[in-house]
Amino acid sequence: MKRKSSSALVFGLLLFFTISKVQAQNDLITNTAARQSLSLNGKWEYIIDPYETGFYDYRFKERAAGDREAYWNSDVPDNKLDRKEHGYISKYSINVPGDWNSQDPKFKYYEGTVWYKKSFDFKKKNPSDKLFLYFGAVNYRTDVYLNGKKLGSHKGGFTPFNFEIPDSALKDEANFLIVKVDNKRYADEIPTLNTDWWNYGGITRDVLLISLPKAYIKDYVIQLNPKNPAGNEVLGNVKFDGPVADKMVSIEIPELKLKKQFKVIGNEAKINFTLPKFQRWSPEMPKLYEVIVSCQTDQVKEKIGFRSIKTEGIQLILNDKPIFLRGISIHSEIPQESRRAYSQKDAEQLLGWAKELGCNMVRLAHYPHDEKMTRLADSLGLMVWSEIPVYWTINFSSQKVLQKAKKQLDEMITRDHNRASVIIWSVGNETPVSETRTNFMKSLLATAKKDDPTRLVAAALEVNYHSAENLRTIDDPLGEFVDIVAFNQYLGWYGGTPESCREANWATKYKKPLFISETGAEALGGYHGDRTTLWTEEFQEWFYQEQIAMLKRMPANFVGISPWILADFRSPRRNNPTYQDGWNNKGFIDQNGRKKKSFFILKEYYKEIQQTQK
Ligand code: GCU
Repeated sequence: MKRKSSSALVFGLLLFFTISKVQAQNDLITNTAARQSLSLNGKWEYIIDPYETGFYDYRFKERAAGDREAYWNSDVPDNKLDRKEHGYISKYSINVPGDWNSQDPKFKYYEGTVWYKKSFDFKKKNPSDKLFLYFGAVNYRTDVYLNGKKLGSHKGGFTPFNFEIPDSALKDEANFLIVKVDNKRYADEIPTLNTDWWNYGGITRDVLLISLPKAYIKDYVIQLNPKNPAGNEVLGNVKFDGPVADKMVSIEIPELKLKKQFKVIGNEAKINFTLPKFQRWSPEMPKLYEVIVSCQTDQVKEKIGFRSIKTEGIQLILNDKPIFLRGISIHSEIPQESRRAYSQKDAEQLLGWAKELGCNMVRLAHYPHDEKMTRLADSLGLMVWSEIPVYWTINFSSQKVLQKAKKQLDEMITRDHNRASVIIWSVGNETPVSETRTNFMKSLLATAKKDDPTRLVAAALEVNYHSAENLRTIDDPLGEFVDIVAFNQYLGWYGGTPESCREANWATKYKKPLFISETGAEALGGYHGDRTTLWTEEFQEWFYQEQIAMLKRMPANFVGISPWILADFRSPRRNNPTYQDGWNNKGFIDQNGRKKKSFFILKEYYKEIQQTQK
């Protein structure tokens, strides 16, 4: 007995330190746009380092912190005889934010390490202020050094992270900031080696120097009580860092003439209050309220919408009404410039196209998109499916890989848990069914539910084909653990012809809402012919005519679709030299930002649905 209890104690301690380590790395500063910050966007100098010479010596040993040949240390010779074999000069500069692949032909296929260097001056307003370096996203592994001191490392290509800058590492002038970025793919990462999208590397989103008071508001959740979604009760919390002197925090919503005070216990305040008569957020009326969170030393403001989302049997209920999702899948990519999207203008282009289609929902595939997308979706009234890149053949048997997936899930939810637009957290896409995989995915679904009980959880599931009755069933075992049964189907493109849609039937054993998270066919923009000629716009138009006719025969629990995909995007897996040439052309919009014929077929379908739902 004794032996067992001691080993259980050891396991418990191990688990605690692992979780606390993961949590400690995730103390993300949220709502960074509303914080006092200095933008470090702009030109950074770089060194391309495929052999990681700046990180390993010639015996491939990791260089010591003070190693003068390490690329995180000064590149300026001490004297005429001081041999430096690395250096940062303006001739080799690159824009931040932005992937490197699209900024210079030599980077198009590059997968490896690039060292970035930025010099900046900074003086704290108050000596007691805390300083953080914040990255919107860096793909994939990041190591950050300031004036030769390591600030930290991060893995994951699509979620934000920040490192505190100790006073000892900061100078008033000419701070030497070095960021090592490595976008090599590995089997044990998230995503894994094989994806159907371009492996854009680099500092792909904003970089901020954030200055915060000694005691500051780190994060907060302010959402309607999921247990009483039709009510007007707000539940949540405010998390602090540093000593909150008067142990009080206030939540103010000026438009509703509401101001409430709550006690801070330790580093957190539980908040709970009822809203007076208010306008719920919805696609038709995307009402956002300015919410002010303040304590004695800090204050943050942001616009928050209040709505509820739930399922009731086979129905999807937004606020108090069943809703049909007129969706579209989107990659974070600007087709005309074949690059990662990162700016407000990029978000306006992509979501503007979705609105033109008549969408009320977007599936931001297959990874968390820039925060500007979810904030703009709040304003435009677009519901969001947000997803971590647990895509295809992840190593489901590894606990380490599960921890990596959970960390990305936690970072995605922490960043966007106040976004009314986000209604679904997806933990993956088209993962091959096995017991190991189902346990891995179940664990992610449970984490998402625990992290955020106010939203639905999903994943794009697998389909089984029964040739007898031309029946396709979604009975993926993971269906038991999701709120909405979502699946991808390409009937008429990967198998069959568009006519196959006429005889096809769909069913699921799960008494839950059914959602088609992908369907699609390729068309090279501007290539025309008769509709039976593959790759023509006419073929893709016919494909959607047949698919839409089939959608009108879907079972009663069918609640929507997000066809694949808004715009053509780059993929190293698409190598038909005439009709693809490194592009996946399933977009409704082509590589030049031009609408294909199928755009108007989908638009007409959504218009019809909107009219029948009036
Ligand atoms: C898959 C996958 C997408 C991919 C698409 C396609 O379902 O989810 O990422 O691009 O199909 O084959 O075009």
